[in-house]
Amino acid sequence: MKKIAILTSGGDAPGMNAAIRAVVRRGIFKGINVYGVRNGYKGLMAGDFVEMNLGSVGDIIHRGGTILRTARSERFKTEEGLQLAVSSLKEAGIDGLIVIGGDGSFQGAGKVTDRGFPTIGIPGTIDNDIAGTDYTIGFDTAVNTAVEAIDKIRDTAFSHESTTIIEVMGRDAGDIALWAGVCAGAESIIIPEAEYDVDDIIVRIQQGKNRGKMHSIIVVAEGVCKGEVISQTIRERTGLKTRVIVLGYLQRGGSPSSYDRMMGSQMGAKAVDLLLEGEKGVMIGLKNNQLIHLPFAEAAKDKHAIDMCVYNLAKSLSI
Ligand code: ADP
Ligand code: F6P
Repeated sequence: MKKIAILTSGGDAPGMNAAIRAVVRRGIFKGINVYGVRNGYKGLMAGDFVEMNLGSVGDIIHRGGTILRTARSERFKTEEGLQLAVSSLKEAGIDGLIVIGGDGSFQGAGKVTDRGFPTIGIPGTIDNDIAGTDYTIGFDTAVNTAVEAIDKIRDTAFSHESTTIIEVMGRDAGDIALWAGVCAGAESIIIPEAEYDVDDIIVRIQQGKNRGKMHSIIVVAEGVCKGEVISQTIRERTGLKTRVIVLGYLQRGGSPSSYDRMMGSQMGAKAVDLLLEGEKGVMIGLKNNQLIHLPFAEAAKDKHAIDMCVYNLAKSLSI
């Protein structure tokens, strides 16, 4: 293994740059050449490689997004796209590929490995929705961003005595909603992993009012429904003044937290080490605070599970 490449794919996530930096620096430290692939799998099919040096990853550890940029590509999912990607890698003389992304990106990386090219995956998505790991790079920063936003929204909700519904990202997973909801003290948290009951939400609002609290914060994961749907239901059922805030892409940007920088640094370096040890077709994960690696195929068998203890905790604290 003399030349390796790195790409970022799917939604960008804070901490991806720390991981890119770690891959490049660890690779150079181990005496190999590292190439960046611009624009994810789209750039891979186009052979858009750039040789990286120590300086190419200077001054990026604190930056959100990804310096290599990212993309989504339908063409890459086809046999023709996959073959094109593998031949671009071979033509450039590259021996191994590291992919930072979510589960979709890992499915692609698994297929590249199946076609004879070694790949390693680093979990990078704000959603924290990949089976096989307790943590994905970007989640901590996204939660902090959401909490900071909700804290601000709470000030105005208090002042105007309003019920505010905050819609957060997470695709089909409720982790961002759950963590942001607990950490920002939401009255109700609505996630795809648990049935929600409008009556229960209304009771909680009412309980607050009975003790003189005239405002309420409800966090809803985008994977359940639009915040507007919850807002309209509550308005119709109670006559209360409701507002909806969709945090949207705000949650994907911003300087990564220390934790995301640490995870990016550790996982990036481990990915290089694994390639050099001859591993392929595996993703890195965090389990019980230890870095592990497991085959893409094994991780794909499971579904990411949310921590229902935290959900139950939220229910018992927002009374
Ligand atoms: P994420 O990696 O964040 O889950 P996506 O699901 O959008 O994001 O996947 C990113 C890219 O990975 C897709 O645009 C596509 O090019 C590739 N990909 C996703 N699913 C597959 C698949 N089943 N087979 C091959 N490539 C895939
Ligand atoms: O996977 C990260 C994520 O931000 C999800 O939370 C969200 O559903 C999705 O990406 C949005 O994707 P796009 O960038 O295609 O709008």
